[in-house]
Amino acid sequence: MHIGPHLLPNRLFVAPMAGVTDRPFRQLCRRLGAGYAVSEMVTSRKELWGSLKTSRRADHSGEPGPIAVQIAGTDAAMMAEAAAYNIDRGAQIIDINMGCPAKKVCNKWAGSALMRNEALALEIVEAVVAVCAPRGVPVTLKMRTGWSLEERNALRLARLFEAAGIAMLTIHGRTREQGYKGLAEYDTIAAVKAALGIPVVANGDITSPEKARDVLAYTRADALMIGRAAQGRPWIFREVSHFLATGEHLDAPTVTEARDVLTEHLHDHYGLYGELSGVRSARKHIGWAVRGLPGGEEFRQHMNTLERCEQQVQALRDWFDELGQTHDRLPPTDAANDDEAQGHEACAA
Ligand SMILES: Cc1cc2nc3c(=O)[nH]c(=O)nc-3n(C[C@H](O)[C@H](O)[C@H](O)COP(=O)(O)O)c2cc1C
Repeated sequence: MHIGPHLLPNRLFVAPMAGVTDRPFRQLCRRLGAGYAVSEMVTSRKELWGSLKTSRRADHSGEPGPIAVQIAGTDAAMMAEAAAYNIDRGAQIIDINMGCPAKKVCNKWAGSALMRNEALALEIVEAVVAVCAPRGVPVTLKMRTGWSLEERNALRLARLFEAAGIAMLTIHGRTREQGYKGLAEYDTIAAVKAALGIPVVANGDITSPEKARDVLAYTRADALMIGRAAQGRPWIFREVSHFLATGEHLDAPTVTEARDVLTEHLHDHYGLYGELSGVRSARKHIGWAVRGLPGGEEFRQHMNTLERCEQQVQALRDWFDELGQTHDRLPPTDAANDDEAQGHEACAA
């Protein structure tokens, strides 16, 4: 699997999720089997590039390549400038966001709302490609199936985007109107894949190895992208990978391994955000990790009262050690994608 000149180790991608897929989480997923990770979106608004949030998002230190940065906006010239700015700071691939349902830039809807304005969407793609192509940087794009069920134009746009020089297309199998509700559908993704020569990535509701196998077979996509199901379960990538290769299930991680993986993630997380902000933003990752496990909800509530890094790490380790007294491996949980509201909110940030 290639994106332009970049050869990827496999075809399992971790999804860009604002407020989630930061550098520590991307590195964690890559270590546990994801072949590719796109960063959280960076705004095309110049005045925000110096902000702490944007500069953290642009921090790729120690990350395995290729470095892919997602940009969001509504103005072709600003998007082209944002692409150039990120390339100068190490981006090797630029991804255009036409998938987010809730992003407002300069009082205009960006993200998937652009799918409704095909002329502007194409103008943005052409402007970004014009800046990236001479620098040898492939441009990829992530979108939904359309604005609404009545306006499902992903196939028409995909053909235009391919002709304009897009190197890979990811499709989340929902319309903009659906937000994160309902079920993802894969017919549109299959139709786009059949019509295009560039790699197509299927995304939406891939929560298990079996679902991954079925979505690959149904859509014939070149790769799969997993978002919410990796929250708190970053080992899903090696589990899916093993199942696709052998048809057999990999054992769940031991409780000890999960404890150590999460401890390492916390330390990386504090390294990027510092103590005050890091302890708070780590809570959601810990909450996802213990979700559905015996006593997980009580622990989550207790953990939300802790304000120091050492307390948080120690509480997490103690909790897993206690779980380890009754379980050798992590017990199965119901890993439904139930984070609709959180998805909207973080995406709007
Ligand atoms: C919290 C959250 C933040 C997201 N932020 C972005 C984003 O910045 N850019 C983007 O293209 N998609 C974003 N998405 C959409 C995901 O990349 C993905 O398309 C969606 O979650 C469906 O995949 P899943 O069912 O595997 O989660 C976000 C989703 C969530 C839940």
